[in-house]
Amino acid sequence: MVAKSITATTVGINAYKVEVEVDTTNSLPNVSIVGLPDSSVNEARERVHSAIKNSGFSFPTGKVIVNLAPADIRKEGTNFDLPIAIGILKEQGVEIPDSETTAYIGELSLDGSLRGVNGVLPLVLGLKELGITTFFVPEENAKEAALVQDVNIYGAKHLGDIVTHFEGEQLPLTKIDINEYLKNCSKQEYEWDFKDVKGQQKAKKALEIAAAGGHNLLMTGSPGSGKTMMAKCMASILPPLELKEAIELTKIYSICGLLSSNEPLMTKRPYRAVHHTASPNGIIGGGTNPKPGEITLAHRGVLFLDEMVEFPRQVLEVLRQPLEDGEVVISRSKSSVKYPCKFMLLGAMNPCPCGYLGDKQKQCTCTDVQVQRYKSRLSGPLLDRIDLIINVPRLTTEELNNNNIEAEPSSSIRERVVKARKIQAKRYENDGILTNSELSTNMIKKYCKLDEKSAQIMKLASQKYQLSGRRYNRVLKIARTIADLAGEENITSEHLTQALQYRTDI
Ligand SMILES: Nc1ncnc2c1ncn2[C@@H]1O[C@H](COP(=O)(O)OP(=O)(O)OP(=O)(O)O)[C@@H](O)[C@H]1O
Ligand SMILES: [Mg+2]
Repeated sequence: MVAKSITATTVGINAYKVEVEVDTTNSLPNVSIVGLPDSSVNEARERVHSAIKNSGFSFPTGKVIVNLAPADIRKEGTNFDLPIAIGILKEQGVEIPDSETTAYIGELSLDGSLRGVNGVLPLVLGLKELGITTFFVPEENAKEAALVQDVNIYGAKHLGDIVTHFEGEQLPLTKIDINEYLKNCSKQEYEWDFKDVKGQQKAKKALEIAAAGGHNLLMTGSPGSGKTMMAKCMASILPPLELKEAIELTKIYSICGLLSSNEPLMTKRPYRAVHHTASPNGIIGGGTNPKPGEITLAHRGVLFLDEMVEFPRQVLEVLRQPLEDGEVVISRSKSSVKYPCKFMLLGAMNPCPCGYLGDKQKQCTCTDVQVQRYKSRLSGPLLDRIDLIINVPRLTTEELNNNNIEAEPSSSIRERVVKARKIQAKRYENDGILTNSELSTNMIKKYCKLDEKSAQIMKLASQKYQLSGRRYNRVLKIARTIADLAGEENITSEHLTQALQYRTDI
């Protein structure tokens, strides 16, 4: 007779159901796993053998064949240990009921205790959609699994606990009220606050617009002008995550093993500051065992590239496609994986190699050729994808030392951002997008209508600045966000002229 148990595996951030079939035959003692397992799954043989013996159960004396079906999906990870062990125990006659609605996920130690695994949330979510209602997971992962509502989650410490559960000594159910949980997490503190940034009104407004509409932004300016400082403050004005976004993000962090067992849900929008020495795989994603890169970890949040021109050109060029599509495809030898990456790009750079081009207080020492070469590291198509480009001038010493003027704190800027995001979410309810930056050309026609006066301004501007088609649309999107920040339904000429103030080139 063949014993069965149910589990799942992840491909990208989605889960696929896997049936574990166990059979024994009377030949030489051996365990073989078939069904496209990778090396980490194959190692389960040794762990499961020891774990079963050390938990006081007997191990089959003949050959054990484990089949992971369907055989055409590659299985990786250590979460197959538990379902394989359950299959073998059933085959040995241990009383574990057959159930089409129960799944097992977990790694085993040699002594039979259960260890946490990565990707539990996507696994449980995926299996729930296929009708699985009861899950046995390592205790370490129980809270994360319980983020999925309306299913039974049992967290176990030891393989033996699951067997005794079926003998009558029930494991406790883990439950989390997700809305209550989110509410408790809403008060967050930030290290950097706009109240400490003096002056720079125009730059602050641009950052506010970027946060409100999810637009990409690039700051250029001389050293010490406060670019890095303001970029760090950006985290404090981002709107809170919606539940759907939080779950989506938690799936990504779960697969990367970046969740803590105490705080299973991502409640803050990610803010990823990446250094230019990071590897292309680390930024974009990839590697022999493909993993999401920084652009995916910044999903629904901010990716900050400081000293943007210092990044290898190959990395910057690869960013073009994810910036446009909101997802990245990572090809591997046998298949390809897709990860979401709807991030806001925030960049900072100096205007020239010495840093002082256009500075009012210090003379630039670069030649024209040097400046040209420096600027050409950011290609036209990449710049075309950046909605807002601003110049951040250096403050004078008097301005920096002036303690009389109180700057607006991040909390009140954030309120406006949150309001503007709500207006957008409501407007795009049926369009499947959340922010103005995601507007497609058709949607722009529908939602960014111009009155006669504005249309005239736009016509003149596009002639004067020779706006590309994409750039033309970007101006409309920015104008839409400015109107939303002002709480107005229609874009007026005032919003449009404000939007046109942002530069189109570095
Ligand atoms: N507007 C400002 N208000 C208050 N402090 C400021 C301001 N501008 C700059 N500073 C001070 O100057 C320091 C340096 O600024 P920052 O590192 O952000 O400059 P930067 O523009 O990133 O320079 P670089 O081009 O060299 O990277 C800040 O840590 C802060 O102490
Ligand atoms: Mg800096």
